[in-house]
Amino acid sequence: MDNLFDQLHILNAVLEYDRSNTARYHMPGHKGGSGIPLHLWNSLLKIDVTEIPDMDNLYHPRGFLADAMNECTKIFGTINTFFLVNGSTAGIHAALEVAAGDQKEVIMSRDCHKAVYNKVIMAGYTPYYIPVGFDQNTLTPSLPSVGDVMKVMDRTGCKTVIITSPNYHGMVCDVQGIACEVHKRDGILIVDEAHGAHFTFSDALPETAIRCGADMVIQSAHKTLPVINQGAYLHICSRRIALEQINVALSMIQTSSPSYIIMALLEYAAVHLHECGDILYNKLCEDIKKLQDGCNSECDIHIKTDLCKNAVEKDVTRILLDARRAGYTGFELEKRLRSQYNLAVEAADLYSCILIATVSDPSWYLETLSKALKDNANPVGNKRLVGCKELPVPEMVLLPAEAVRQDKKTIEAEKAIGCIAYKAVIPYPPGIPLIVPGEKITTEAISYIHSIVDEGGFIEGLEGVNGNLYMDVVK
Ligand SMILES: Cc1ncc(COP(=O)(O)O)c(C=O)c1O
Repeated sequence: MDNLFDQLHILNAVLEYDRSNTARYHMPGHKGGSGIPLHLWNSLLKIDVTEIPDMDNLYHPRGFLADAMNECTKIFGTINTFFLVNGSTAGIHAALEVAAGDQKEVIMSRDCHKAVYNKVIMAGYTPYYIPVGFDQNTLTPSLPSVGDVMKVMDRTGCKTVIITSPNYHGMVCDVQGIACEVHKRDGILIVDEAHGAHFTFSDALPETAIRCGADMVIQSAHKTLPVINQGAYLHICSRRIALEQINVALSMIQTSSPSYIIMALLEYAAVHLHECGDILYNKLCEDIKKLQDGCNSECDIHIKTDLCKNAVEKDVTRILLDARRAGYTGFELEKRLRSQYNLAVEAADLYSCILIATVSDPSWYLETLSKALKDNANPVGNKRLVGCKELPVPEMVLLPAEAVRQDKKTIEAEKAIGCIAYKAVIPYPPGIPLIVPGEKITTEAISYIHSIVDEGGFIEGLEGVNGNLYMDVVK
């Protein structure tokens, strides 16, 4: 038996990571099970059942699943909260399906997650983009303003709007102002709040879009709550949305074998944090603020506290380490934290590292982070970083859905200038597409790609072979 276990690649790789005792400043929010109480932990596989008659049915809930979702509806203060077992991705697809209906068009902020872009491709929508810029002060992407949304609605007449708030960097936009203008124009506002499932549970956190007038809000519980991967909520917050249509869409999009483990944890997280979230988040936010004040006066690696352009609030639990003053790139800092302090960040970009702190974090995580910052009190690196230029949204020559149905060829990135993109090119983080299928590839986009790759950044949609970069374009 031992021998058999030795051969199992996944089990060994992940258990080795677990044994390394790394401070996990990344998702999922339960942090290696630290946030899951023993009673649940011991029952996890016993509760993995299926929809036999006694066990209710996610898409026709009449028994305990209906009770659990009703309880969450009350906790979140929504009209209806649906449990998602295929991540926010499923909720985004269902919300767009119902909101856009036969209209086949959508207004979306350019910083939407690829789940939104994928729906645009699958449904053949025409996308109208709300551009997002780059904030030179915080060195993070900026957010859409109320005026930006109004402009695109008035220009296009499109009534379905989807925005992301908070973004990956924890910055929250003026959802209330945006919702007000969308509704004046008889539109529907969907907010992808994938990174803000915890907002409901404490006044120390930003206001959730649920309370700011959005019609539908989607949250990845697994990112910040004690829930395993794929657990998420779709909240219906206004009477403009037909509940039965959402249920039908979810039953088509999601698996027909929903995980009871995920559903049990979705209920647990909401009930538990409704009871003690205030105390837990107040403590977490206070601890982070103390660390912030200490290191921002003593150390060269700062925790960013400023708001980016058009942000109205920032989530304190999304820790943004600004390495610039210490002379590092975010990528270098990430490696340093991993190799010297056994601390794994959620993501790094050229300018910062993004860390996700949750109420499941053992106390030694923050001690490890504090030590790492204090040890790096003096400048060590020699990088002099300047903020990147803002790139305009490229010209759309074909709809994304049309582009992916063409024949493609793979060519060197330099030779792709002027061609039409076949595949999306997305730097991670922040996961904002630089180029979407159907868009014309520009010289500026290619030089931007090089500036990221040369510093060790990752870009989805590119292939590196022998030091050259290749990309897929329409033939
Ligand atoms: C802003 C945003 N929206 C949606 C998603 C998709 O969420 P999920 O992984 O829960 O499907 C992500 C995932 O990273 C995200 O960052």
